[in-house]
Amino acid sequence: MPAPVLTPSSDVIAKAVAILRSGGLVAMPTETVYGLAADAANPEAVAAIYRVKERPVFNPLIAHLAFPEAAFEQGHFSPAAKALANAFWPGPLTLVVNAVPATTVCDLARAGLDTLALRVPAHPVARDLLGAFGGPLVAPSANPSGRISPTRAEHVATDMGELVDLILDGGPCQEGLESTVVDARGDAPVLLRQGTITPGRIASVWPGLTEGGQDGRPVSPGQLLRHYAPDATLRLNADKAAPNEALLGFGAVDATLNLSPSGDLAEAAANLFAMLRDLDRSYDRIAVSPIPPEGLGAAINDRLARAANRS
Ligand code: TXA
Ligand code: MG
Repeated sequence: MPAPVLTPSSDVIAKAVAILRSGGLVAMPTETVYGLAADAANPEAVAAIYRVKERPVFNPLIAHLAFPEAAFEQGHFSPAAKALANAFWPGPLTLVVNAVPATTVCDLARAGLDTLALRVPAHPVARDLLGAFGGPLVAPSANPSGRISPTRAEHVATDMGELVDLILDGGPCQEGLESTVVDARGDAPVLLRQGTITPGRIASVWPGLTEGGQDGRPVSPGQLLRHYAPDATLRLNADKAAPNEALLGFGAVDATLNLSPSGDLAEAAANLFAMLRDLDRSYDRIAVSPIPPEGLGAAINDRLARAANRS
């Protein structure tokens, strides 16, 4: 039976909490994408997440908390890491820190690592749910592993409706791209995943940001995988569509769908996954306009490059 899709009220949040406490799975809206939430302290609930997403168990999950103070209890934060957290939480930033021995996030959620990815989301429904639950919730994006992340409740219902217990409908996600992931363990921050908090904004709080993946530095395990994959073939940096292609446009172009006719990168990020899904339903080939690499454009181009990668 497909999971109910409910508009959150206090009764619905109480129902969601009861499901989570009994080890069930609840899809919740966040400001980035919809997440598939489970009790981070319950290994069986966490195992169900890996199972329904068909996610490799070496790929750890992000633990979500209601308040920064609750996150600070789970991991070791240097003063600089705390400053970064306080600057952007609640919001679309995930910090990787060393777990404290008493962390309540179970080993399986951390993929057995000594580190922990933590985030305090800004979406009011996610905050209500986390506040009412009272502990960390792991929440990967609510899509089958490797596929396009969901930015609307109906995306979750289509992809995972039979696999979850409840879907909370919080409307379209405002940011539209997953959180920026930063390794905050060292003397300088390391960017593990691009997102809508740009490198420049991080560096304005904690200078010296470097990118993971070079010189043998680690990246997030999840970044090594094929991701955001539509069924259609993507051709990037296209000026116009060939006769057999749809055009996913940006700026003043004649397009099948346009990420942002006015060339606004935040609008394009918010539309990206929903428009890729829409075009993927009707076309086998999608051409995509060039997206300027500045600011948020880097995170959008990162997702497009992964979606276009057939290997
Ligand atoms: O915006 C988001 O972050 C969304 C919403 C639902 O909060 N969640 C999300 O989760 O994108 P997921 O599981 O799709 O991506 C988590 C990323 C993966 O690339 C994973 O490898 C990385 O975070 N990650 C988790 N724990 C880590 C750790 N200890 N060290 C390095 N990377 C880690
Ligand atoms: Mg994901």
